[in-house]
Amino acid sequence: MGTLSGKVALVSGSGRGIGRSIALKLASAGARVVVNDLDAAPAAEVVEQITGAGGEAVACVGSVTAPDFADRFVRTAVDTYRGLDIIVNNAGYTWDSVIQKMTDEQWYAMIDVHLTAPFRILRAAQPVLRKLSRAEAETGQEVFRKVVNISSVAGLGGNPGQVNYSAAKAGIVGLTLTLAKEWGRMKVNVNCVAFGLIRTRLTEATAAQNATIQVEGREIKVGVNPELMAMMEKTIPLGRGGTPDEAAGAVYLLCTPEADYISGQTVVCGGGISI
Ligand SMILES: NC(=O)c1ccc[n+]([C@@H]2O[C@H](COP(=O)([O-])OP(=O)(O)OC[C@H]3O[C@@H](n4cnc5c(N)ncnc54)[C@H](O)[C@@H]3O)[C@@H](O)[C@H]2O)c1
Repeated sequence: MGTLSGKVALVSGSGRGIGRSIALKLASAGARVVVNDLDAAPAAEVVEQITGAGGEAVACVGSVTAPDFADRFVRTAVDTYRGLDIIVNNAGYTWDSVIQKMTDEQWYAMIDVHLTAPFRILRAAQPVLRKLSRAEAETGQEVFRKVVNISSVAGLGGNPGQVNYSAAKAGIVGLTLTLAKEWGRMKVNVNCVAFGLIRTRLTEATAAQNATIQVEGREIKVGVNPELMAMMEKTIPLGRGGTPDEAAGAVYLLCTPEADYISGQTVVCGGGISI
């Protein structure tokens, strides 16, 4: 029996990077996971990896920014596993520019994916959570459920070139604080994890000036110049960027029963960096 045995988890953007590690970690602790990603192939691989190891997972492919996505995501959990216990809002990417070069499209893309999409997913989940918590309250049970929203140190301390991203990542902290107050009566713990530098394709040290990712038909520049990366890593007390598995560990901690009395908090997972 794992710590999360029988729990049903939604993890957005879990085909790659940190989300993938979160899905695998929750599944290894016994959770049944709805794996979402924009891209079908990586989502299917994560589902296969989980089921191949004896766990349970199902894919729900599509962009979290699609207006009908939230309902579909929540329904996948309820229809497939008859429950909903953990929601991790992780999907996202960066689209950087200094403010004078930033377009409205760049601004809204970050607000949409990092703030509006989590808002819609949580709004769609509310009737399900309310029904479950009411039924449990009537039988005198106290069952804790978990929301973990993913923020960034850019949302807490700012980061040049990221007014769009840091505004959205600060916004998700505000959403978390309010929802922790609204959903306490439903016994839902609502917290944030703000990552520092985690080594994924977004932050890969690459000398190539043209490293890009495809997001919904847009080609977005990613990666960090190796010299800059070395400088950034020197400022981290633990001496290096984190791995996706280390990042997933922080999310997992907030999903465990040991975190049942923690709500409305932002945990920084950044190797000791100060904000
Ligand atoms: N890597 C870091 O250093 C770092 C630091 C702070 C915060 N974060 C946050 O962590 C989260 C995960 O980032 P990562 O580094 O693992 O990136 P990643 O690119 O490795 O993985 C993100 C996954 O999300 C998916 N995705 C992107 N947009 C989506 C959408 N609209 N709908 C559904 N899926 C979508 C991508 O296809 C990808 O598979 C993001 O919210 C990011 O902002 C990352």
